[in-house]
Amino acid sequence: MGCFFSSEGGGSERKAPTERSQIPQAASTVPVIPEFITNQGSERERNIHGKVFTYEELIVATDGFRVDLLLGQGGFGQVYKGFLGNINQEVAIKRLDLQGQQGNREFVTEVLLLDQLDHPNLVKLVGYCSENGQRILVYEYMPLGSLHSHIHDLLPGQQPLDWTTRIKILLGAAKGLEHLHHTVYPPIINRDVKCANILLGEGYHPKLSDFGLAKLGPTGDNTHVSTRVMGTAGYCAPEYLMSGKLTKKSDIYSFGVVMLEVLTGRMARDERLPEPMRNLTVWFQSQAANFRHRRDATNLVDPALQGPRSATSVYKAFYVAGLCVSESPVPRPDIRDIVTALTDILESIESRRRRSLGRRGPSTPARTSSASDGSQAQGQGQGEGS
Ligand SMILES: Nc1ncnc2c1ncn2[C@@H]1O[C@H](COP(=O)(O)OP(=O)(O)OP(=O)(O)O)[C@@H](O)[C@H]1O
Ligand SMILES: [Mg+2]
Repeated sequence: MGCFFSSEGGGSERKAPTERSQIPQAASTVPVIPEFITNQGSERERNIHGKVFTYEELIVATDGFRVDLLLGQGGFGQVYKGFLGNINQEVAIKRLDLQGQQGNREFVTEVLLLDQLDHPNLVKLVGYCSENGQRILVYEYMPLGSLHSHIHDLLPGQQPLDWTTRIKILLGAAKGLEHLHHTVYPPIINRDVKCANILLGEGYHPKLSDFGLAKLGPTGDNTHVSTRVMGTAGYCAPEYLMSGKLTKKSDIYSFGVVMLEVLTGRMARDERLPEPMRNLTVWFQSQAANFRHRRDATNLVDPALQGPRSATSVYKAFYVAGLCVSESPVPRPDIRDIVTALTDILESIESRRRRSLGRRGPSTPARTSSASDGSQAQGQGQGEGS
């Protein structure tokens, strides 16, 4: 493969991902991850502040892990919806299906990381249970489910996400990743950025999940091959797949795949397609020369997206995504540049909407216009987003 945006292709559009300079750097960096995180042991030895639940409390919260409260099954176990009466809160309860020391390590890591990370775009850990060998994590409940379900598994009659909301979700997720990469110390590499791990709250407010579980790989004998170690098919940076060497740029590649999914409606890897086209990034590369040449990516946009939207904002979004999924890590932007670029895109969408509203006058409903940057998208959007 190779970078989709070679030096001749960018023009003025190249500025956006590289201009950020006002981002708080070292001065705002707070050392929240204790050194002993890599020095695993019993969580009882650690200074964990999250609420400790008894197994009985969680049985009550889930009505005995009732099957109809099952939210889903992931690589680490089953997730149930629950309700904690004493704190009057809906929660998602993840029972880790893990064996032995490695399972304990991952559990402890998740508890330590999530307990100490506090950001509006990171899923909050409410508490945990380690009673009688149980390994259960209790998270805030995210009522709108995963971004994956809103892009790939729409229920009959469910509205697809509009353009503004998609950009807001990407921006919020990028801010969560920015916090992991640049605010906490030592930085955290998520290693499993994907649409299924971006969860949506009220107003489509996005939060990253599962970064603690994703962080640690196996220790000791390295014959154990885990999909967790290598991330999820379709999202892994090529150099990480080849060498196992993990950097922040691996997360950026995965984030680029998420962007492409959100923009195109295609899956990161689609087994139903012929092999050469199964990977979204390979498909995108086959389109990239044309899109770069025409500086127009509107024909790549998810067909489920209704309503007009500006070719410029579409092109910019694809441009950023293309940089992220560059074969080489070098041209991939820093997450702070991605936050800047998505913020610019969102601002331009919103200023178009304001101009459009101004032309029509205050009494005209926003959705009646077709002149703005996406009539559905340019209404109020579906929610708060980022
Ligand atoms: N805090 C939460 N609130 C609401 N739903 C959740 C929450 N956490 C997880 N889920 C849902 O539970 C299901 C399983 O999640 P889980 O994180 O275990 O698996 P996954 O994200 O699909 O894969 P992976 O194991 O790689 O993370 C998903 O459908 C997810 O949307
Ligand atoms: Mg997950």
